[in-house]
Amino acid sequence: MKILVTGANGFLGHYLVPALLEKGHTVLATGKGDCRLGLYGKPGFSYDTMDFTDPLQVKKLVERFSPAVIVHAGAMSKPDECEQNQADAYRVNTAATLHLLSEAEKQQSFFIFISTDFVFDGEKGMYSEEDPAAPVNYYGKTKQAAEAAVRNYPYDWAIVRTILVYGQPLAGRSNILSVVKQKLESGETYKVVDDQLRTPTYVGDLAAGIVSIIEKKGTGTWHLSGAEQFTPYEMACKTADYLHLDRSLLIRVTADTFSQPAKRPLKTGFVIDKAVQELGYKPVTFEEGLKRTFG
Ligand SMILES: NC(=O)c1ccc[n+]([C@@H]2O[C@H](COP(=O)([O-])OP(=O)(O)OC[C@H]3O[C@@H](n4cnc5c(N)ncnc54)[C@H](OP(=O)(O)O)[C@@H]3O)[C@@H](O)[C@H]2O)c1
Repeated sequence: MKILVTGANGFLGHYLVPALLEKGHTVLATGKGDCRLGLYGKPGFSYDTMDFTDPLQVKKLVERFSPAVIVHAGAMSKPDECEQNQADAYRVNTAATLHLLSEAEKQQSFFIFISTDFVFDGEKGMYSEEDPAAPVNYYGKTKQAAEAAVRNYPYDWAIVRTILVYGQPLAGRSNILSVVKQKLESGETYKVVDDQLRTPTYVGDLAAGIVSIIEKKGTGTWHLSGAEQFTPYEMACKTADYLHLDRSLLIRVTADTFSQPAKRPLKTGFVIDKAVQELGYKPVTFEEGLKRTFG
């Protein structure tokens, strides 16, 4: 299948694009600036620069490639940046999704939008696909608005929500596991929140889940995360133990001791039964995720 991926230079893109190529798909990876994927020469792979906030660039590329599937993985994905630059966050996360949808519609492509647990308010925790969204920060609001547009798309669509994605940071952007390793190895203390709950997601599982959605034409909303619920502090301790680092450098704090620009939902976590039953989605345990991250 011909698949266009946005945000291909990002963390997810570094796992999703190779997973799609492995299955024999023809992938047009797109991103801002030069390709950082190191996949040139792989059968089925090509890369083009596309700033998806520019409707003309989107039109040109989507018309030329005529994708059967578009995976819109690109985003302004840091909640604090979104909170502090709301106009940019709206332009990148919401308005650009509308341009992509309108070009996708001309090709009748299957449109897959990557979203987040931050569309929920964090009061209830362990959310299923049917729970009502009520974001507590601007990042979540931009994603909720984009989701609403995707639901109005007249052809096949899927919304894939995920949570606290971890793994080897191939794209260069750190994640909680890589930060714990870096801080503790250099003997620094690290403050980690122990009153938020998440079901962290191994990046390879997320990529595999998206591949299944494409191959099974899984339309609708999907929750893809790990199955186990932890606080970030618990994740950090497990990481320290796995790497035989000094866990006493981890300082347990509560969310209200941080003054971050964007409020975080307290308890998220996903019920993943639908993906398990209908897609055969089988996430690894956190212990196995640690092995895959650090070898
Ligand atoms: N990582 C998580 O824990 C997490 C959790 C929940 C949901 N998600 C969602 O999952 C998706 C993938 O996340 P990720 O972790 O791979 O994020 P990421 O590493 O930040 O990747 C996002 C990519 O989007 C690109 N991008 C941003 N604006 C663009 C534009 N105007 N045109 C073209 N590309 C643009 C970025 O390009 P540059 O690299 O050039 O800046 C980056 O490569 C996102 O939709 C995110 O919101 C992630």
